[in-house]
Amino acid sequence: MKILLVSGPNLNKLGQRDPTIYGNQTLSEIEGLVRKRADEWSVEIGPYQSNHEGALIDFMQEASSAEGMIINPGALAHYGYALRDAIEAFPGKVVEVHISNVFGREEFRHTSVTAPVTDGVVTGLGWRGYLAALDALVGLLHEAKDAK
Ligand code: DQA
Repeated sequence: MKILLVSGPNLNKLGQRDPTIYGNQTLSEIEGLVRKRADEWSVEIGPYQSNHEGALIDFMQEASSAEGMIINPGALAHYGYALRDAIEAFPGKVVEVHISNVFGREEFRHTSVTAPVTDGVVTGLGWRGYLAALDALVGLLHEAKDAK
């Protein structure tokens, strides 16, 4: 089983970027934690980060044979309609993650245009949100397989 771990704009700056909001972990540390948990589930992780919406879409289209995807779209969650369409077209299950609690922040962050085309959202749990998303995704995927 393969699960993509997709990160949008500015998430390459985790660790330096506003640690009071986003924590001290770098993206590669978070990817390492997710990979470690994924190993326990015998799941392969496909990490990808870009600051460009089109590049994220290209990656998603090319990797569409993966069964699932964890995506933190960064600010694209709030206005990225092309990204939304690409998520909608992705055949696997999808969980959206936000490190911060977007509902407790500026008004523009309260809306996610991408969330409605995902299977669920984890927000405000810091790096732990990625592990929660992985556990949920693996559970959903196993359930879907068992139902066949
Ligand atoms: C974020 C929240 C977004 O509003 C913000 O633009 C980000 C990070 C988060 O993980 O909390 O880049 O997605």
